[in-house]
Amino acid sequence: MDFQQIFDKPPQTQAIAPGRVNLLGEHTDYNDGFVLPTAIPQQTTVQLSFSDDGEHHFYSENLQERVSILDINHPPSGFASYIFGCIEELKQAGYTIPALNVYVQSSVPIGAGLSSSAALEVATLRAIRQLLNLSIDDVEIAQLAQQAEIHYAGVQCGIMDQMASSLADTQHILFLDTRTLERRVLPFPSKTTILVIDSGVPRTLATSGYNQRRDECQEAAQLLGVEALRDITDAKVTETLPEPLNRRARHVVTENNRVLEVLQGVTPERFGELMNASHTSLRDDYQVSVPALDTLVEILQNTAGVFGARLTGAGFGGACVALVALGEEKAATQVLEQYNNAGYAGRILVPELEVSDAA
Ligand code: GLA
Repeated sequence: MDFQQIFDKPPQTQAIAPGRVNLLGEHTDYNDGFVLPTAIPQQTTVQLSFSDDGEHHFYSENLQERVSILDINHPPSGFASYIFGCIEELKQAGYTIPALNVYVQSSVPIGAGLSSSAALEVATLRAIRQLLNLSIDDVEIAQLAQQAEIHYAGVQCGIMDQMASSLADTQHILFLDTRTLERRVLPFPSKTTILVIDSGVPRTLATSGYNQRRDECQEAAQLLGVEALRDITDAKVTETLPEPLNRRARHVVTENNRVLEVLQGVTPERFGELMNASHTSLRDDYQVSVPALDTLVEILQNTAGVFGARLTGAGFGGACVALVALGEEKAATQVLEQYNNAGYAGRILVPELEVSDAA
């Protein structure tokens, strides 16, 4: 069912925003650190019109679910909470937002660690900006989206996902300093591209595990007498911390250094090594991997044409990203076969391959 069929009139405007995959710099953004995401081809589209009855009406095409909001003291849950959160954050920022009809359609996989929520938030804010002619820039959109996620989805997230969805494209890597918001657009390493494969394992403990890691990092920074772990550049300094804060901090410090090394310009081989080191650090020091992700990463790392691979996003399930030589994208099919033979149900997300229905 399209907008017209749901709301009985055509949309007045629409906007899109992509999901993202992070190549390096994981769990660094809420430590004021450095990240290297890129946009993925999958996108979320939000269509809007003014509502005629004073209530917000949200419809998700993917879920075929409609939510109407009469009482703003009872925020909705699920997909509607992200849209509602964006509207509330705009109001907090001083804008008057009338009742809206909102229609969402998305090809960004949910629960794979590819920022389907950031894509929904950014597309919603872009569509409202257009409809109401608001003078908000793309960085402000990312900031409002992050606040919506924190206040209405309960994840104490950093700003990487929303900045990536708002500012990155699929042809470049976005370097972002999450403290200053200084950013640079980098090319992919020479003759390379990416593979993204979903492990098929949902990110069950993601919210609680994520918030716990964030608290641990804050505690580590406090014990070390710095504003954020970004201020530590020598991993040796973290050895004085008690377990497990020492490991959490060591991951953040070494991960930031890996991103900064890429910024200096590295070969595809070196970029791959840094991705592999990142996975080891996320597995052993940050402890956000799960056996399925380790298996998938190992298969990727042992595949010809792959320079390096790691889990991507918050961890606890979700997807892996690999850097591969251009022209070697087909390696993904082999990897998937091997992975699924180990008893998992993975799927290739990037490149977007033709889905074969042959069963
Ligand atoms: C999630 C959060 C981001 C970031 C990553 C981990 O995607 O939303 O802010 O912290 O996890 O790097």
